[in-house]
Amino acid sequence: MTLAGLSGISMCILMTHLNEIYCDANASHPLLPLVSEKLSEAMNEQSWLLSNPSSIHQRGQKAKSLVYLAKKLLIEKIGRADAEEIIFNSGATESLNSVIQSFQDSGDCVFTTNLEHSAVIEAVEASKASVREIISVDSKTLWIDEEALFEKMDSLRSQQGQRRFLFVLQLGNNEIGSIYPLESFLDRLRSYAREHGIDDQTFVLIDCAQSLCKLDDAVLRKVLYHCDYAAFSAHKIGALSGCGALWLRSGVPYQNVFYGGAQEKGRRPGTSNIAGIYSFYIALKYWSANQDALMDRLTQLRDHLYAGLLKIPGMTFHAFSVEKKSSFLPNILNFKVKDCPDESLLLNLDLHNIFASNTSACHSGTLQASHVLKALNLSDEEARSSIRLSLSILNSFEEIDTVIQTLQESVQRILENRKNAEVLFPEIISQ
Ligand SMILES: Cc1ncc(COP(=O)(O)O)c(C=O)c1O
Repeated sequence: MTLAGLSGISMCILMTHLNEIYCDANASHPLLPLVSEKLSEAMNEQSWLLSNPSSIHQRGQKAKSLVYLAKKLLIEKIGRADAEEIIFNSGATESLNSVIQSFQDSGDCVFTTNLEHSAVIEAVEASKASVREIISVDSKTLWIDEEALFEKMDSLRSQQGQRRFLFVLQLGNNEIGSIYPLESFLDRLRSYAREHGIDDQTFVLIDCAQSLCKLDDAVLRKVLYHCDYAAFSAHKIGALSGCGALWLRSGVPYQNVFYGGAQEKGRRPGTSNIAGIYSFYIALKYWSANQDALMDRLTQLRDHLYAGLLKIPGMTFHAFSVEKKSSFLPNILNFKVKDCPDESLLLNLDLHNIFASNTSACHSGTLQASHVLKALNLSDEEARSSIRLSLSILNSFEEIDTVIQTLQESVQRILENRKNAEVLFPEIISQ
């Protein structure tokens, strides 16, 4: 599909600062042109968009019906029927925290992995659940040892007292793009739970912040069929940040974090972020109407980037390989280049107005090495010198060519500088 074929996209490219190339969509996808158009229309008209959906006057009721429409769209996208199973909130971090905090009774066991976003890992670490386990994935298969996990469950079940199990797992990784083999694992987990009579005490929360709209709806639905909760984020699909949603299957445990209002049936009090919800609705509608074309476009952009980067000497991709590309999100590559230390490449890109990152946005701005890359057995230094390029549907092939060329030239310059320094200061460089 050509760029012009995507409604609104070409217009946005014109609106984008011509000298800037944004390749950090997993931190925040740029606002979709259609979203910004619809938002400004609504703001300029001072319409119902600015109203409080809890008010009983006409404007409030219009805003309320928009909230309902947005819930309906999301619930249908994930293959469920009851819009009341959706709670709008401030984003995936809130959804993940609120569910994890709902499992703090004695006897609660919360399992997650070391590849998760810090919103999960830190919430599990802070939890008062009696068992909190952050399982290390195998650095090659990028998955857990299922046998060991079921043995652990056997042992916990054999101990006295009532147990509730919560598994918190992501579908698509924000830093390396890997997709967990959740369909087969969840099948197995549910069979195990049924066999041992603990199906109604076994719960699964899926972090879908990066996978909504970037995976086939059918895959998402199959995974969520076995789950109880899912966390979504509006700004990862080109809507406003500070808005997201939690899906929770009717009747599952849930303890609201806030008190003080009847919004979302008291499950998430506080005035609804109506502008955020509207932007989420528009973005979701846009992706849904163009789903296959947008996925194809992201895949083609990523493949084009991969082919170009492969030619750079010393290039190593983290986790990703072409043979296994169906097990990765379509828009991301994470890599390092031999002998390009620290943030040198990232800073070079920044000097050329190419925006990328070397870790999750929550940790960038610090010199911390990514815990995800360290889980792949990279050293601190290797993790810090790695680069994540995450593409958006607004990137063009010309931009990708510029990124490749800039990286090639930057690597060459860094290596030449290093060679010169080796001649001038051999004892320092060899250290
Ligand atoms: C995998 C994953 N989970 C959770 C989050 C947090 O999402 P939000 O910014 O909506 O709180 C992010 C954001 O980077 C993410 O990538």
